[in-house]
Amino acid sequence: GPHLLSLSGMTQERIVGILDAAEAFLDVGQQSVKKVPVLRGKTLVNLFYESSTRTRSSFEIAAKRLSADVINVTPSQSSVTKGESLSDTVKTIEALGADGIVIRHASSGAAEFVAERVECHVVNGGDGCHEHPTQALLDLFTIRKKKGRVAGLTVAIVGDILHSRVARSNILGLSALGAKIRLVAPPTLLPRGIDRWPVTVYDRLDRGIDGADVVMALRLQLERASGGYIPSLAEYSRLYGLSREVLERHAPQAVVLHPGPVNRGVEISGEELFCNDVAILDQVEYGVAVRMAVLYLLMGGRGEESSLLAAGSR
Ligand code: CP
Repeated sequence: GPHLLSLSGMTQERIVGILDAAEAFLDVGQQSVKKVPVLRGKTLVNLFYESSTRTRSSFEIAAKRLSADVINVTPSQSSVTKGESLSDTVKTIEALGADGIVIRHASSGAAEFVAERVECHVVNGGDGCHEHPTQALLDLFTIRKKKGRVAGLTVAIVGDILHSRVARSNILGLSALGAKIRLVAPPTLLPRGIDRWPVTVYDRLDRGIDGADVVMALRLQLERASGGYIPSLAEYSRLYGLSREVLERHAPQAVVLHPGPVNRGVEISGEELFCNDVAILDQVEYGVAVRMAVLYLLMGGRGEESSLLAAGSR
């Protein structure tokens, strides 16, 4: 360790420390200084058991900008296909010389399982329906850039909360920073026990986003809803899809976020002519700086900075 497995228990001070570090790395990028030598000689391994465009690429770009060596181990092309276990796979990767592993896996708890079995740093790149901490950190960073703060803002998270690791990490991060959180979803897409979360639940989109500062649409996770979706996709887009009309009417000042990938025409209407500030590509851009900050704070080798993330480890 230390690791970044979850935002559970991470204090406001520690989250702000990561966002401030990301700000510094964003400035580096803006000044076109693409490479800094802080992780020279370190090796990061991306181990993604589920597909990814954004997370895997941005960890790779972030690590390379910090001068680390990066390799991608793709389970479908690895000895996982010959029956090698997750435990043996990560111990093998560590024996090859990894200083850090970014793991994405379909099972909730996979990142913690890995962290218990290796000495190197582990970052959770998304585990099942559990957490996706760097996604939430880049969402918080984007909100802070667009609105100047997070405390006191009303953030409406719309859609498939039930299957969403992005929603879980965001609820932890947003509540640590003092945002007011609304969840907008039909009861079929909400988890049990929601009444114990620091959120207000709405089942109507217009009421749920009314006056919100931030509207975050979630992807309908077609790969996880084994019994199909209720409501159906067509009903969902009619009832919960973000359109220019509903946003202009109920949340004209809202910044619109989506972790991606977007199912066009389902969570967000196909039209591009929103009057709102749609920050989906800003999220991707800021994600590189946020992941640079996370890798630097974890692997940069100064005990004091590593401890910034220690609360996010177990
Ligand atoms: N937001 C996100 O995790 O995207 P990818 O699945 O493309 O990494």
